[in-house]
Amino acid sequence: MQSRRALSPDAKGPSRSPPADRRQHESTDTDLKDRHSRMASYLEIADDSEGHDLSLFCVPKHYEEDLDSVIIPNGLIKDRTERLARDIVRDMGGQHIVALCVLKGGYKFFADLMDYIKTLNQNSDKSVPLTVDFIRLKSYSNDQSTNCVKVIGGDELSALTGKNVLIVEDIVETGKTMETLLNLLNECHPKMVKVVSLLVKRTPRSSGYRPDYIGFEVPDKFLVGYALDYNEYFRDLSHICILSDRAKEKYKV
Ligand code: IMP
Ligand code: MG
Repeated sequence: MQSRRALSPDAKGPSRSPPADRRQHESTDTDLKDRHSRMASYLEIADDSEGHDLSLFCVPKHYEEDLDSVIIPNGLIKDRTERLARDIVRDMGGQHIVALCVLKGGYKFFADLMDYIKTLNQNSDKSVPLTVDFIRLKSYSNDQSTNCVKVIGGDELSALTGKNVLIVEDIVETGKTMETLLNLLNECHPKMVKVVSLLVKRTPRSSGYRPDYIGFEVPDKFLVGYALDYNEYFRDLSHICILSDRAKEKYKV
């Protein structure tokens, strides 16, 4: 595992930045510092990371045969979330935040992130009023992201007009879901929109979209647990795990 304070110019992974040689000519030092301070830091889980042996952790009996390994243990998710809460309050602090939970996959991350923001609010001189909204989107069938992102429920987005909105998502893969949601939201003219995603997948299928805050950058594998599902299964698993190919067949719809 590696931490990325901010993407270095030659960091791998999807990004819309021009190649390093061009950037050197185009940017002054101040531009570069500015850009780096705007790019999200994250904890990188390497492509060759095999994760941790399942037998070292508590996993529900009914899923023992379905998982290859634990890739992010629950404790580490929580520790990283605590720091994301601090970064968000630092940047958005002083103004009312509407946290918009993208259901269903985002609900665990959302609940924990809200708890950490509440704890910060309770224990410092500066605090942010926090309200919550929910939206339900669907874009996945089996382990494939589809081009069709549908809003299938939740609060009216028009309530977000003029508000500072923090979208809370579980995972960004191609980026299509988030780009669709941002387009929908912008039609309602919020004052500000920031996006926090617990995970970003390193994949050639990425559109290049990057959230404002990122917990972990993960390999291009299908992950479940901590509310991330495969056809609705595995949300009742605390750790983020790699799904086995056999389980993809077993739970296929
Ligand atoms: P995107 O539109 O391709 O960025 O996909 C985003 C959505 O697909 C996420 O909000 C998840 O609901 C789902 N998704 C993408 N990758 C995974 C995964 O590895 N496990 C579970 N769900 C995933
Ligand atoms: Mg999601």
